Amino acid sequence: MPWSERHRAMLREMGLRVWQPAVTFAPAPPRPRAGSETPQAVTADVPARRPTLDRDRDRDRDRDRDHDHDHDHDRLREAPPAAPSLPATAALPIDAAVVEAAAEAAEAVYRLDWPALREAVASCRACRLCEGRKQTVFGVGHEQAHWMIVGEAPGAQEDEQGEPFVGAAGQLLDAMLRALGLDRSATGDAAERVFIANTLKCRPPGNRNPQPDEMQRCEPFLVRQIQLVRPRIILAMGRFAVQALLRTSEPIGRLRGRAHRYQGVPLVVTYHPAYLLRNLPDKARAWEDLCLAAELMARNAVASAADSVIASEATDATTGAAGEERRP
Ligand code: URA
Repeated sequence: MPWSERHRAMLREMGLRVWQPAVTFAPAPPRPRAGSETPQAVTADVPARRPTLDRDRDRDRDRDRDHDHDHDHDRLREAPPAAPSLPATAALPIDAAVVEAAAEAAEAVYRLDWPALREAVASCRACRLCEGRKQTVFGVGHEQAHWMIVGEAPGAQEDEQGEPFVGAAGQLLDAMLRALGLDRSATGDAAERVFIANTLKCRPPGNRNPQPDEMQRCEPFLVRQIQLVRPRIILAMGRFAVQALLRTSEPIGRLRGRAHRYQGVPLVVTYHPAYLLRNLPDKARAWEDLCLAAELMARNAVASAADSVIASEATDATTGAAGEERRP
């Protein structure tokens, strides 16, 4: 994506050194036919921009270890955790009773509209996090936003204000979104709006990592939010969002740089803004991820436009309208 001077200025504002990524995209793959989409997360169709060398993989793995460590450190700086941080959720067993209870609750949640969903989140007492919260953090943004951002869990400021990403990490997120012409307002052009939600709606005590049963019980809310927003692109920020949506404990560095899918919606994996605050060089990689998401959006818009032309030509051909128009 060639950058305009406006973009460069915004990147400078974000604290990014301006550089031109060598991004070349492969030709658009065929779009899945309606009904053929896999009803779960799959890694999909846009290849990495360049072949991944073993050397790169090792470096990414090291970076991921740092990412997890630094992100944990960020969260824990406010207050030390009572328990040691947990490994990846997907790698931990979840009690079968929790899975069953969550599945039952999910059925009801999937029938809720926006007001009922907000109410259900606000009054949720499905896990122990309800005991320590000041308030739930539902999510913010346009209810039909084309972009959806999924983060991890509320921190102290979010718990205080009832809105996701309002601390320093949130300011960075807003600056990154601004650079793409996006914001979190609830009104305006849905194409220029995001809806921001977390995997957990309540703050884990001491900002510790989300635990598997908490994620399991909270998940239906996020799933329903995605169903209601019907975003055209999802950005999964940080490992807990990735685990929740893609069901993998693969490190971020191995997952970023290509398109995945969640329920048929293109999904891009990127670093968590709290991690980026401490790892400035990776801001450039996060910017690349946002550019990939923008590219996927543009590509899908072109594909949809082409589909409509084909559909209207097919209708015209059936009704004879196209033939008549073409007649001299
Ligand atoms: N980090 C998150 O993942 N979500 C928030 O809302 C705040 C910080």
